[in-house]
Amino acid sequence: MAQIIAIANQKGGVGKTTTAVNLAASLAVLKKRVLLVDMDSQGNATMGSGVQKNDLLYSITDVLLGEVPVETAITKSEVGYKVIGSNRELSGVELAIADQQGREFILKKALDSVRDSFDYIIIDCAPSLSLITVNALAAVDGVMIPMQCEYYALEGLADLTQTIDRIQQALNPDLQIIGVLRTMYDARNALTRDVSAELEQFFGKKLYDTVIPRNVRLAEAPAHGLPIIYFEKSSKGAVAYLNLAAEMLKKSKVKKGSHA
Ligand SMILES: Nc1ncnc2c1ncn2[C@@H]1O[C@H](COP(=O)(O)OP(=O)(O)OP(=O)(O)O)[C@@H](O)[C@H]1O
Ligand SMILES: [Mg+2]
Repeated sequence: MAQIIAIANQKGGVGKTTTAVNLAASLAVLKKRVLLVDMDSQGNATMGSGVQKNDLLYSITDVLLGEVPVETAITKSEVGYKVIGSNRELSGVELAIADQQGREFILKKALDSVRDSFDYIIIDCAPSLSLITVNALAAVDGVMIPMQCEYYALEGLADLTQTIDRIQQALNPDLQIIGVLRTMYDARNALTRDVSAELEQFFGKKLYDTVIPRNVRLAEAPAHGLPIIYFEKSSKGAVAYLNLAAEMLKKSKVKKGSHA
């Protein structure tokens, strides 16, 4: 049964989508069956996976509105994993489902029927705490938080952990932070190192050892509709995301072992 993971942080531009796309691709390279769900009306994860957001027959919008079964909205990509795409139509969904009973659990229910077909379902969230993001956080086993090592990242930390606590209490008792990922990392920068040390203190083992360096190839790849591993596989960014996938798999193995 798939582990369902949201990539979330209310702060914009911290590398959520880059992480969602490249983690999905890296897990697929490691022979895992992966579904990437784009829950952002910007549709960046969709485009970054080489799927045209404006040509979608069905998107996550149709799933949330209950118009098609989730299986119908799954598209193949050329990059090793499957995608439920998104586009600007998603921005109208919030209003449409606002008065619906069980509105926070629509995605959770929908994903239930495909959970057995994948090893990982990765959900890319928008930088907000809309009902759409709440649907994502209610559906997952864990949330991965990408963070840029800058001063404002620390400022947003309390908000973010409070949000996660609130959702855990109200909607999803299983919700946990599975890991915190340092993105756009520049080891030469003293502030990066300071913030990084604070994150270590705050999150302890939840902070991934793997850091994602600032790498221009990571920023270029989406324009070609390709995860970095298919764009330039020897780049630092590609190696880093493969390492992240490997670290994640290793940690989940250790965890499973400890429960056995
Ligand atoms: N490690 C990196 N090195 C260089 N550029 C990066 C890296 N990670 C992300 N970027 C670039 O930074 C910008 C923001 O990244 P991304 O879109 O992944 O963030 P996001 O958190 O999904 O943003 P939003 O909150 O708008 O959804 C993008 O232009 C992306 O290409
Ligand atoms: Mg994004």
